[in-house]
Amino acid sequence: MKERKGIILAGGKGTRLYPLTKVVSKQLMPVYDKPMIFYPLTTLIQAGIKDILIIINPFDQDLFERLLGDGNHLGIKITYKVQQKADGLAQAFLIGKEFIGSSNVALILGDNLFHGETLETHFTKSQKKDNGATVFAYPVKNPERYGVANFDNNGNVVSIEEKPKSPKSKFAITGIYFFDNSVVEKAEKVKPSDRGELEITDLIMMYLEEKTLHVEKFGSGIAWLDTGSHESLLAASSYVKIVEERQGLKLGCPEEISWRKGLISDEQLIEISKPLLKSGYGNYLMEKLNLTK
Ligand code: DAU
Repeated sequence: MKERKGIILAGGKGTRLYPLTKVVSKQLMPVYDKPMIFYPLTTLIQAGIKDILIIINPFDQDLFERLLGDGNHLGIKITYKVQQKADGLAQAFLIGKEFIGSSNVALILGDNLFHGETLETHFTKSQKKDNGATVFAYPVKNPERYGVANFDNNGNVVSIEEKPKSPKSKFAITGIYFFDNSVVEKAEKVKPSDRGELEITDLIMMYLEEKTLHVEKFGSGIAWLDTGSHESLLAASSYVKIVEERQGLKLGCPEEISWRKGLISDEQLIEISKPLLKSGYGNYLMEKLNLTK
């Protein structure tokens, strides 16, 4: 199996959330009890990815570094690179070219939140696929806001359209993508769209044309939330609050997942917990130590 690295795309101007995001990146905004970026970071760790590049805007590098450092406390490696201008999602692979090297790569959008019991299985399976691309389709009420997958009568995907005015299906493509190493070469061929962006859908279409695209449909047991508007940000916070209060389990807790995966020891978890005791987050982590892994 080829090594797979991960990229979290956390740049962009966040103008849809102004004035909230005028001086601080969207991906640092709270989603209930933790910064937004904790959720996609946790998802990548869950998928078994240990070398992660975070792409950020030119202004907030120090904030992200203060929050997540070099990843050592999570038993992973985190590096950062700046995207000067929000020129589109596919640019992640140009900015990340050196980082990716000869590895395969997973990209997750810094404002996407996934939750559900079967996710780890889905993502770990895709993580281990050496060739082609895997993307995930999820039924939504407003597909025109997303990349949309169109299927033929046999359920095979025939096209992916970015924000179509009249969507032919309800299936949005979610913001997590698993690509083989050829994504870098493919990204170099993507031309700016009418809205001036290097579109991820154009990249996905190249895999479809090569017949190496896998589209997996997520069922109703999985929650996929994006946090791109004030309403969806509040809805995501409410969702996390309700699930966490009901189950007593945290979502998007990278320390817990790293510990569960054996990337950090009991002693390291205790050290991380100590300065976090007042908020309850540290207590939560400490409690884990009394349970079996
Ligand atoms: O959320 C899934 C959708 O994400 C997909 O269905 C679409 O195919 C895909 O194009 C994308 O659509 P959005 O309109 O939601 O993308 P948005 O411009 O909001 O960017 C998503 C995240 O990526 C956001 O957190 C900001 C960050 N970003 C975006 C751009 C364009 C960057 O860091 N750099 C960029 O250049």
